[in-house]
Amino acid sequence: IGKRIEYMEQCASTQIVAHQLAQEGAPDGTVVIAELQTEGRGRLMRKWDSAKGQGIWMSIILRPDVPPHKAPQFTLVAAVAIVRAIQSVTGLQASIKWPNDILFGTKKATGILTELQSDADGIQALIIGIGVNVNQEREDFDAGVQDIATSLRLESGELVNRRELVQEILHFLEIYTELYIEKGFAPLKILWEGHSATIGKAVRARMSRETLEGIAEGITEDGVLQLRTADGKLHGIYSADIELK
Ligand code: BTN
Repeated sequence: IGKRIEYMEQCASTQIVAHQLAQEGAPDGTVVIAELQTEGRGRLMRKWDSAKGQGIWMSIILRPDVPPHKAPQFTLVAAVAIVRAIQSVTGLQASIKWPNDILFGTKKATGILTELQSDADGIQALIIGIGVNVNQEREDFDAGVQDIATSLRLESGELVNRRELVQEILHFLEIYTELYIEKGFAPLKILWEGHSATIGKAVRARMSRETLEGIAEGITEDGVLQLRTADGKLHGIYSADIELK
């Protein structure tokens, strides 16, 4: 991972650039990084604040030989890699809120957006978008997110070297995707659960059609969240916004 790195001062979104490169045949492990994104995007069509030079805005093209329903597992693999990289560079211990938020306490420092290029033959490419708030001060965040967003600088009290952090993220992502290819998701599930802020907690899961409340009991081998509601039923959650209660 990272043998080919496309570095840009500015782009609309590294996701868009990575999709384009993937369609043109860019190899597995190609990385797109920008200093500034003018149209950074988050999950569920949300905007992702990507101010100049303060964070890591990057997208990684992977071409794993797995069926499309396994794609969400890569979000969880990436989350583990990022938590380990943050720990290695800053000593900070972050936690993961299912599926893709990396938190300090209840505040979000990193988001992951996994998108798929697939056809009848299966996955052509996975585009893993990673946004890490690195050196923002509180005032650098939009007023609307100041209470729910944080940065590594705010958490550690020090400026963090972004280049070093990118290297560590790519390093751990390589280690964990190799582990995944060799041994499947099981060992990564254990690592993920070790960093989870969700498992065992009372949560509210907002989905497009309904909202469920209950205890997050765990994740399945496919990375699906299992939520036990008060009536004792176990629900598999494939995609939702999770609120810790
Ligand atoms: C989320 O938490 O909703 C996911 C946020 C993902 C943001 C990153 S920044 C790099 C890449 N390019 C984008 O436009 N989005 C992802």
